Amino acid sequence: MSALDRNAKIAVIGAGAMGAGIAQVAAQAGHPVLLLDNRPGAAAQAIDGIDRQLGKRVEKGKLAADERGAIVARLHAVEAIETLADCTLIIEAIVENLEVKRGLFKQLEGLCGDDCILASNTSSLSITSIAAGLQRPERLLGLHFFNPAPVMPLVEIVSGLASDPALAQTLFDTARAWGKQPVHTRSTPGFIVNRVARPFYAESLRLLQEGAADCATLDALMREAGGFAMGAFELTDLIGHDVNYAVTCSVFDAYYGDTRFQPSLIQKELVDAGRFGRKSGRGFYDYSEGAQRPQPQQISSDASVDSCVVEGDLGVLNDLLPRLKTSVITRDGKGLLRVGDAVLALSDGRMASQRAKEDGLRNLILIDLAFDYASAKRIAISCSADISTDAREQGIALLQSAGLQVSLLSDTPGLAVLRTVAMLANVAADTVLHDVASAADIDLAMRAGVNYPQGPLAWAERIGLAPITQVLDHLQASYGEERYRPSLLLRRKVAEGSTFHDQP
Ligand code: NAI
Repeated sequence: MSALDRNAKIAVIGAGAMGAGIAQVAAQAGHPVLLLDNRPGAAAQAIDGIDRQLGKRVEKGKLAADERGAIVARLHAVEAIETLADCTLIIEAIVENLEVKRGLFKQLEGLCGDDCILASNTSSLSITSIAAGLQRPERLLGLHFFNPAPVMPLVEIVSGLASDPALAQTLFDTARAWGKQPVHTRSTPGFIVNRVARPFYAESLRLLQEGAADCATLDALMREAGGFAMGAFELTDLIGHDVNYAVTCSVFDAYYGDTRFQPSLIQKELVDAGRFGRKSGRGFYDYSEGAQRPQPQQISSDASVDSCVVEGDLGVLNDLLPRLKTSVITRDGKGLLRVGDAVLALSDGRMASQRAKEDGLRNLILIDLAFDYASAKRIAISCSADISTDAREQGIALLQSAGLQVSLLSDTPGLAVLRTVAMLANVAADTVLHDVASAADIDLAMRAGVNYPQGPLAWAERIGLAPITQVLDHLQASYGEERYRPSLLLRRKVAEGSTFHDQP
């Protein structure tokens, strides 16, 4: 354990949303903290803001009044950069501009002691680039907090080409001592979270663009089937489309136009229209007073079903069986569920009509992925074009008997949750392949940074890496796009019969 001593003096430069939050975190951990901003009075104002916020926690009984006083007493607003000369760690959270950040660190290098660690909270600039030109680039690292810093547990410890691994470990241990969940990552565009999360937005945007379903239905599926805290449309409305679209564009450009990260014209149009989301009163949804939130689409059936047949192993879909209010007959087969004339199966990434034709099935209903079939409230399905009304009604009635709301999508490959999770795992696999971060750190980052119900690699393993790779192969074949090409590492793991968490 090499965390910085609690008495070590920390400086935070930039007293905006992030800088103030980081200063609060360090002061709560017991450090004396100097806060500097180039807007006169901004640092003092930020400390007043922290004091007021802590006051609310005291009122709620979540913080002792003397503890509030002690935290605030450790925070010092300063106006001259020279006062930072004896700090052990200086964290920069100023404007997101490479030249300005480089200039600041050059200035700091000239006045700080040799042991001072320099850190940047940048979310999109390269740590390697910021450090280039410093006399000692090895002591500059990324310390990437998430907004709001006092609340969000994740901190990405970002190493540039020259960064000293021992200092990365010191920052890791320090972040942990501050009550955070740190992960190590190399400085590549988007680091972990802003890279791996892109498909979460991109796949919903594509489904909307293709008319697979409306926003409210897709959001409800992500929450009530996928187990995510929010769907992509409500989340990007909250983040702000200007911000989310800019991050996507910067990641897309940084990966030389890799279509995995391709921005969406639908989102661009919102940005062009000034519909930034909640903050401007309108995004995908209308936030004006009295506006009604559209309801998700669902279909219901009055058909009665008293038995169904399970043929072979349904994989993760097996967890649904105890919820069915019908008798279940089991026999050997290829992972199909039959009720009346309908055949139901977990999607494998092919369209329903295509799979029906290729596998010689009639009346096929494909079922989307759920995070947990034992507790999901909603599920997406799609039907082959040949389906009879009776078969469709029977299939829906079977799923309804399990207490599920059923949302019918157009015949789209990989449905909604399955294609999203497959693509999250795909980008995560490439992130491991490129030695940017470990599988365990990526999974932790996505849980702690963006509240995913499970890390994408562990989730893919639960479904099976072979079926996930097959879903991606089928998506690639359907669209004819590189975007869905499976990561080499997924293919290798399938060939080896190994998993991500076998990694040393
Ligand atoms: P902000 O605009 O709220 O605050 C920036 C502060 O830095 C302002 O108070 C400004 O007066 C001050 N400043 C600008 N140039 C300065 C300089 N040369 N010297 C001293 N102070 C200076 O910005 P925010 O959102 O706090 O972001 C700061 C940094 O954190 C950026 O690098 C951003 O990419 C990163 N970040 C932002 C996140 C967010 O959700 N807002 C999340 C994670 C990282």
